[in-house]
Amino acid sequence: MSKDRTPIILDGDPGHDDAIAWVLAFAWPELEILGVSTVSGNAPIARTTRNMLQIMTLLGVRDIPLAQGAQRPIVGEMFTAASVHGDSGLDGPKLPEPKVGLCGLGAIELMAKLLGESAKPVMLVPIGPLTNIAGLLLAYPELKAKIAGVSMMGGGLLMGNWTPAAEFNILVDPEAAAIVFESGLPITMAGLDVTEKAYLRPDDFGRVRAVGGKVATIVADWLEYFYQFHKKLGYSGAPLHDAVAIVALIQPEILTIREVYVQVETQGEYCRGATVGDFFGRAGRTPNVKAIMDVDRAAFVDLIVEAVAKYRGGGERNA
Ligand code: BDR
Ligand code: CA
Repeated sequence: MSKDRTPIILDGDPGHDDAIAWVLAFAWPELEILGVSTVSGNAPIARTTRNMLQIMTLLGVRDIPLAQGAQRPIVGEMFTAASVHGDSGLDGPKLPEPKVGLCGLGAIELMAKLLGESAKPVMLVPIGPLTNIAGLLLAYPELKAKIAGVSMMGGGLLMGNWTPAAEFNILVDPEAAAIVFESGLPITMAGLDVTEKAYLRPDDFGRVRAVGGKVATIVADWLEYFYQFHKKLGYSGAPLHDAVAIVALIQPEILTIREVYVQVETQGEYCRGATVGDFFGRAGRTPNVKAIMDVDRAAFVDLIVEAVAKYRGGGERNA
């Protein structure tokens, strides 16, 4: 194992774009994936966990600890995104039955264990609601020094998607998001500002499918499924929101990043869950977020195609 690998922990609520983000992550040997955990979000926790086990089985992941996380947000009522991802959270192609199981620890305990054991600070990569990450910071404040940063998908400085002001991941658990954004940890935010531009069009799905093999075929089917929902809203492709949080780790040069002070609105009749960016320095605070604002879409598509091509021979790419 190269000593230059970046240790990371993946946390998500798969979800089509979560699944493709993990395909991307496991294709890059520069990332040392210490563990994977789930959170309620796109679907209830039992479903996102089953989806994780099926995705890991598809990718041939065997020896990485997998954990189930929070069942519900810290304060608010749980809601899901079945309208986007289907009742299972990952409707579409049939996936293999799980051949891997959970490690026996909950997500927070697993993260704490992995952080404690790691010689190097670890990057946390949450691509669902931030409930587990906030829980970790509350339960183990002493482990903050072992966290290199947070590369996350969530929020939007210029727009929302679930409400005019709020993006889904943040709206599900705004209190958790506020804890993370106020933690002082370095945060790289792949919000809707960039992720709405990180889409694959039907001709791009064709490139993915043409790679051939099990993983490429399923990724192309996920893209088709995800696109059907977005097409009705006028999109010309399937936005792979969550994959941008991985791109920030493996190919940041294709991204445009702006440093901003961001606060999460936890109250408000219209704006609960909004990520409020202080673009003009009105709050007089030091930026706490590297907000990704743009992506070279052509390079992004190439990266996804390159990632699925790495699975052509079958089996795990990045143990
Ligand atoms: C986010 O919400 C979920 O539906 C997606 O998986 C992504 O993490 C986009 O708003
Ligand atoms: Ca997600």
